[in-house]
Amino acid sequence: MGSFRAQVSNTSSEADGIELFNPNLLERVANQLRGDGLIFRPLNSRDFDKGFLQLLGQLTDVGNITKDQFLNRFHRMKSSGGYYVIVVEDLNCGKVIGSATLVVEQKFIHSCGLRGHLEDVVVNSEYRGKQLGKLVVMAVKNLAKSLQCYKITLECKDRLIPFYESLGFKREPGNANSMHARFPHDNPAEQSRL
Ligand SMILES: CC(C)(COP(=O)(O)OP(=O)(O)OC[C@H]1O[C@@H](n2cnc3c(N)ncnc32)[C@H](O)[C@@H]1OP(=O)(O)O)[C@@H](O)C(=O)NCCC(=O)NCCS
Repeated sequence: MGSFRAQVSNTSSEADGIELFNPNLLERVANQLRGDGLIFRPLNSRDFDKGFLQLLGQLTDVGNITKDQFLNRFHRMKSSGGYYVIVVEDLNCGKVIGSATLVVEQKFIHSCGLRGHLEDVVVNSEYRGKQLGKLVVMAVKNLAKSLQCYKITLECKDRLIPFYESLGFKREPGNANSMHARFPHDNPAEQSRL
C-alpha cells in the first residue's frame, strides 16, 4: 500500500482558507510521504474551488450547491465539532480527488462514549485502483481510534463488503442490518439552511 503525508500548517491566512479541523490530528494517523504529489489533509473552505463537490457527485446526488451554501455548511460543521472530512488533493492539478468523512457521535451509553461513523467514501474514477480508497478509509479508522471512539460503523452496498472487510470491518452475526426511513423533501434547498 502506498503512503501519504498529512499536510500540517500552523499558519493560516485568508488565501490559505480555513481548515475544518486541526491537521495535527491527521499527522498522528497518516504521517508518511507518498511522493507523487498527493496529500492528505482536512477539508478546507477553499475546496469548493478544487472540485470537492464534483468529487462527491461521483458518490451520489449532490444538488446544485452555491459557494455560499457550501461555506455555510462548512462553518456549521466546524463550529458544531465532530465532523472530520479528510480529502486527498493532487497537487499536480490542484484538485480534490479523494475523500472520506468521520462523524463522531456523542453518547450517554458506554460511559459517555463516542461512536464514529464512516461516511461519504469516494475516489475520483481516474484515480481508482491505486489503493487510495484503502488509505483514506484507514486514515478515518485510525482517526476514530485516536479520538477514543469505542467503535466505527458504516453502511455500504453489498459489492463493497469485501473492500471494507479487507480493512478490518466485520459484519456482526445477528446485527448486520441497515434500515432506513427516507424523508423526501420538495425543496432540498431548505435543508442546506440548517
Ligand atoms: C469504493 C472506492 C472508494 C474504492 O476506491 P479505490 O481507490 O479504487 O480503492 P483501492 O484502490 O484502495 O482498492 C482497494 C481494494 O478494494 C477493491 N475494490 C475497490 N473498489 C471496489 C468495488 N467497487 N467493489 C469491489 N472491490 C473493490 C480493489 O479491487 C482493491 O483490492 P486489492 O487490494 O485486492 O487490489 C471507489 O471505487 C469509489 O469511489 N467508488 C464510488 C463511490 C462509492 O461507491 N463509495 C463507497 C460508498 S460506501
